Order: sequence, then C-alpha cells, then structure tokens
Amino acid sequence: MKWNSELYDDKHSFVAKYGEGIASFLNVQNGDNILDLGCGTGDLTAKIAQKGATVTGLDASPEMITQAQKKFPDIHFEVADASRLSDVQQYDAIFSNAVLHWTFEHLKIFENCYNALTDNGRFIAEFGAYHNIKRVSDAIEDAIHNLGYTYRPDYFPWNFRQDEDIKNDLLKVGFEDVTVESFDRPTPLEGEDGLVNWLVMFSDNLLKDFTDKEKQNVYQECSRLLRDDLYEAGQWTVDYRRVRIFAYK
Ligand code: BEZ
Repeated sequence: MKWNSELYDDKHSFVAKYGEGIASFLNVQNGDNILDLGCGTGDLTAKIAQKGATVTGLDASPEMITQAQKKFPDIHFEVADASRLSDVQQYDAIFSNAVLHWTFEHLKIFENCYNALTDNGRFIAEFGAYHNIKRVSDAIEDAIHNLGYTYRPDYFPWNFRQDEDIKNDLLKVGFEDVTVESFDRPTPLEGEDGLVNWLVMFSDNLLKDFTDKEKQNVYQECSRLLRDDLYEAGQWTVDYRRVRIFAYK
C-alpha cells in the first residue's frame, strides 16, 4: 500500500499524539536498545530516543521512512517488513503503535518479536481492537451498496481481533507474562472535512478499483450516513477502539 506521508503528518498527527500514552509504558532505561515497529514518519521514535534509548525505526513504507529520515536525521530508520525481522536477540524492548491492525500475520510477527528480544525483553504495542472504527467501516460498505457499486470484502485491509485471540498467539510463541486489554477511544478529527480527509488517507485499499469520481461519491455518501452519529458542532469523532499488549520474554 502506498502512503501519503505529508497528508499523514499534516492532518493525522493525532496518531503519534495518542501513541504517547502507550509509549509511556515502555519505561525507557538509559541505553536501552529499542525497535519501533511501524514507525511511520518517526515522531514517536524521536520521543523514545529523547529518553536515552538507542532506537531503530522500521516501516514497510518507503514514503514514510523518507519523511522520517528527513525529520530526524540522527535516528536510524529502515524500510522493512515486520514479518521478516532478524532473529538476532538484540532489543531490550519492541514498541509498536497503530500498525499491527494493518497485517494478518500476527503469529509470525509475534514470533519474530520474541526472537529479536533479549531475555526479559518487553513487547509493548497498541493497535486497533475488535470492532475498531466499526461505524465507519460499515458506512463505507453501505455507501458502496447505496451507490450501486461493488463492495469487495476481500479488500478489507484491517485485522481487528478479540483480546483473547491476540493473547493466545502471544503465549503460543513463548511470551510468559502477557496482558492484553482493549478500550474505547473516541477520536476527534481535525476540521469540517475531517472525515473526508480520514477516508482519503485510510480507505484507499477498499476503494482501489474505483475512479476518483466514484471515490468522491463514496466519501460524500459516508459523510451523509455518519453525520447524525459522529458529527457534532463542527467536529467529527470516529469510533476508535484500541488494544494494548504488554508481553514479557
Ligand atoms: C487505527 O489506527 O485504528 C486505524 C487507522 C486507520 C484505519 C483503520 C484503523
């Protein structure tokens, strides 16, 4: 998937802002060697580095990594796929924010994280939980049907799983002390066109067969369908749900 790193930084900086919550649980020790898995444009990677850790930022998107390198030239960033991490036991902690719901390879990734951690290493992550953005994803599907277009469930790009299933996978790969907990996190978007900006940024996979005009029609129909539920006094608020992982080797 191709990412628009400028739209990401310009209109979706809340992703990194909210990520500061889970980053605070990293409990960074001076000299820790930390991997930021799915670092995006690097804002949280830089925050973790400021606390005295040596941090590597990894992301599968070359566009995101180019932007991260431009913003933070002193930090080491690499384009890499989380399902192909090296198994050298080198990291005291692996951190990931708002990324793991974009992959269907959790078991493989958890195994790779386990192998890349030193003994007693920690894997601290947050991502979209079961029923994350349910109203929005339902509205996209309804909008496509209402407009007479074809909805392709196989294009659904997100993996929003139950806590129990995530926990079982973490235990399966060897983590011993595992906590998985999910919660609602209604998320305000910026400005009157917040929902459309969100859809432009994140729904492209579901709409990849559509012309630009058809995409615009879907955005408008979604806005119509969601207005009563998610819009109030000039503010769109999306029904995010998060899940947090605290797993120790
Ligand atoms: C999320 O961070 O939960 C998310 C972001 C974009 C699309 C879907 C989910």
